Amino acid sequence: MLSGRRIVLGVTGGIAAYKAVEVCRRLVDAGAHVVPVMTKGAEHFIGRTTLSALASEPVQTSLWDEASPIPHTKLGQGADLVLVVPATARLLGAYAAGLSTDLLTNTLLATRAPVIVCPAMHTEMWEHPAVQDNLATLRRRGVHVVEPDEGRLAGGDAGKGRLATPERIVAEVERVLGPRDMQGLHVVVSAGGTREPIDAVRVVANRSSGKQGYAFAAEALGRGARVTLVSTVELPVPSGAAIRPVETAAQMQAALDELAPTADVVVMSAAVADFRPVAAATGKIKKDAGVPEIVLEPTPDILAGLGAVKPAGQTLVGFAAETSDLIANAESKLRRKNLDLIVANDVSAPGVGFQHDTNAVTILRAGGEAVIVSLTDKRAIARAVLDIVCEIRAGQGSSVTDTAV
Ligand code: PMT
Repeated sequence: MLSGRRIVLGVTGGIAAYKAVEVCRRLVDAGAHVVPVMTKGAEHFIGRTTLSALASEPVQTSLWDEASPIPHTKLGQGADLVLVVPATARLLGAYAAGLSTDLLTNTLLATRAPVIVCPAMHTEMWEHPAVQDNLATLRRRGVHVVEPDEGRLAGGDAGKGRLATPERIVAEVERVLGPRDMQGLHVVVSAGGTREPIDAVRVVANRSSGKQGYAFAAEALGRGARVTLVSTVELPVPSGAAIRPVETAAQMQAALDELAPTADVVVMSAAVADFRPVAAATGKIKKDAGVPEIVLEPTPDILAGLGAVKPAGQTLVGFAAETSDLIANAESKLRRKNLDLIVANDVSAPGVGFQHDTNAVTILRAGGEAVIVSLTDKRAIARAVLDIVCEIRAGQGSSVTDTAV
């Protein structure tokens, strides 16, 4: 599977750098062409000669090598994949902030190939909010993260932060470079919570961050799909996705009514308001006039509308955000809205649903077995759901309709 694939292997300055040598050897054994890049810090831990001897080319370390005048763009442009083993807190911070300070960070910014980072550091650093925020940013942008293991760390400490095993890292490389099973499909994803105006400054809103929807967009892009995000939030848009900003349920409905008829897959992960003020006041309602009475009316059920006119061959995915009777409520929505799949999350459980970087779901499909995905990052949830979408489409013999790819 890796035969002939060009992999830039970035090595940064952590004690786990010595394990990058084993990862390099395994990739070369699997047929990959490995281009090694070391940071200055990495040279404190392993010698260039070691990595050069095992990789497909000599190690590169500098932006200023006369033999290759523009290596900062060339390496990234020619890569099928960029893999960073180990990825230090400094590297993750620079990459998330878009700083290009050395050959490796330049390569990361100049590539359109998939990127895998394999963090390794002490537990205190791994758990630091700055590091976790940087990882969340990178994940949202579509970067694949191989989480560190728990175990013995440098200096006799123990805890989470130990580099993943070479087996896990190579398996992730194989997965990411594996078949692009959504190539040629147009996937439309809704993300975020709608905001319904009360007056010129106030809204009826909900706690949706859009993270789950953006994780779907990044995962579908990674699998080769063309993606359009209909979004109420301003998160970094995964590279390659088209974006349709909306705010209210009515605007989201208009965008989806336009996009859905020709989409192959629609994922409705947005939290749409069920009620909105009948009329928004034009100015700001003044408090000296007393407590206002706000009369609400139901919003249109966008998803039910899409289900009612679902074209043949389209896969329609809904969500169910519940705080009780998870499965019964989700099954009822699956049927009523004519969905192929519903992703049920119990949003009262710790770490699940609104705003978290993680989620836990039960995936129900019309006439199929339920699949439970325990608490994990939102990208892994998206992966599990899209695996089932691809399975359903393969079973139906659905064809590719997207001619714009
Ligand atoms: O955005 P995050 O912070 O990452 O959080 C993710 C999430 C909790 C928002 C997501 O996992 C989720 O559950 N999304 C659906 C939220 C919701 O509105 O659920 P619901 O059970 O109320 O609605 C059922 C389905 O109908 C949903 O697919 C919803 O998008 C859709 N709907 C609901 C009301 C409406 N008027 N129109 C709709 O299309």
